[in-house]
Amino acid sequence: MQAIALIENGGPEVVKIREHPDPTPGPGEVLVELRAAALNRRDTLVRAGVYEFSFPYVLGSDGAGVRRDTGEEVVILPSVAWGDAEEAPGPEFQILGGPADGTHAELISIAAENVYPKPDRFSWQEAAAFPLAGLTAYRALFSRARLVAGETVAVLGAGSGVSTIAVQLAAQAGARVFVTSSEQEKIDRAIAVGAEAGVNYLHDGWVDELRALTGGTGVNVVVDSVGSTWPDSLAALSPGGRVVCFGATGGTEAQLQVRPFYFGQASLLGTTMGSPREFKALLEMIATGSWAPVIDSVRPLADATDAHSRLEAGEHLGKLVFDV
Ligand SMILES: NC(=O)c1ccc[n+]([C@@H]2O[C@H](COP(=O)([O-])OP(=O)(O)OC[C@H]3O[C@@H](n4cnc5c(N)ncnc54)[C@H](OP(=O)(O)O)[C@@H]3O)[C@@H](O)[C@H]2O)c1
Repeated sequence: MQAIALIENGGPEVVKIREHPDPTPGPGEVLVELRAAALNRRDTLVRAGVYEFSFPYVLGSDGAGVRRDTGEEVVILPSVAWGDAEEAPGPEFQILGGPADGTHAELISIAAENVYPKPDRFSWQEAAAFPLAGLTAYRALFSRARLVAGETVAVLGAGSGVSTIAVQLAAQAGARVFVTSSEQEKIDRAIAVGAEAGVNYLHDGWVDELRALTGGTGVNVVVDSVGSTWPDSLAALSPGGRVVCFGATGGTEAQLQVRPFYFGQASLLGTTMGSPREFKALLEMIATGSWAPVIDSVRPLADATDAHSRLEAGEHLGKLVFDV
């Protein structure tokens, strides 16, 4: 089969489509003929060598296609072997797409429990765009931050693939949603898909601008995938608010003021991916919702290098999708 199989780590130039052995399903696995796949920040981190896996392996956590044995149209749950507990994944947990061969390929062999019916109202491209970002956003918003209707939430970095879906899910749940972004155009797009307003995080004093949007009270929840922004996120909270974090796009270190944190009754919550139960709940929200994933661009798998470059340059808005 043709696949984005890595044989070395490096920049976007190491991403090449090449022949890779067809997968053979093991016990409990099924073969899926992929129709579309999508790119996540994780693929660029894996490609760059942040995690060390033995070569060759196929990139990609997100995909949708046809189950070869039954002909069903399916989406793939990228959390592999989550385990029995909802609080955190177990020791066998992996994210699809290194070390296990991922979705940037014509075929994938995957545990039958990781395939779910494709949402009827989504195209192949939309179905491939939501799993990892949607699952991460669902768990962050609802399981970890316990966001409820009527609360306010700020989603940092509106252009991010996870952020666009977080805005849509939070709005569907009846929350008031605010965003930050480096570009007004991305703020406007976030408003078009459910946000109320946004501020540019390149402005000094953006936290005050964000608080002003809430009438000065601050937000109940901040969705922070930036990392270096933890102090700002905590400063944006109303008393008793929650910051939920799952990324470090802006850096892996932050320095916090301890006293305002505890006087403010704040919570700082870590989260990663999500469980099969959360994926089912996400599919139910999709079935009853009217939104579709924001797709930045669609290209053939053979042009994956361009997608990696575009994502790393932060030029995108929403998901970069591959037709397979
Ligand atoms: N732990 C998990 O399970 C998990 C799952 C999914 C993602 N993640 C992590 O979450 C992050 C987002 O993932 P993704 O795939 O959605 O990434 P992405 O599409 O590449 O999004 C990156 C965005 O981050 C925003 N950003 C960068 N610096 C910022 C800053 N200083 N303040 C605010 N926003 C900033 C930019 O938003 P603008 O373009 O609007 O300026 C940029 O577009 C990544 O770090 C990823 O590794 C973790």
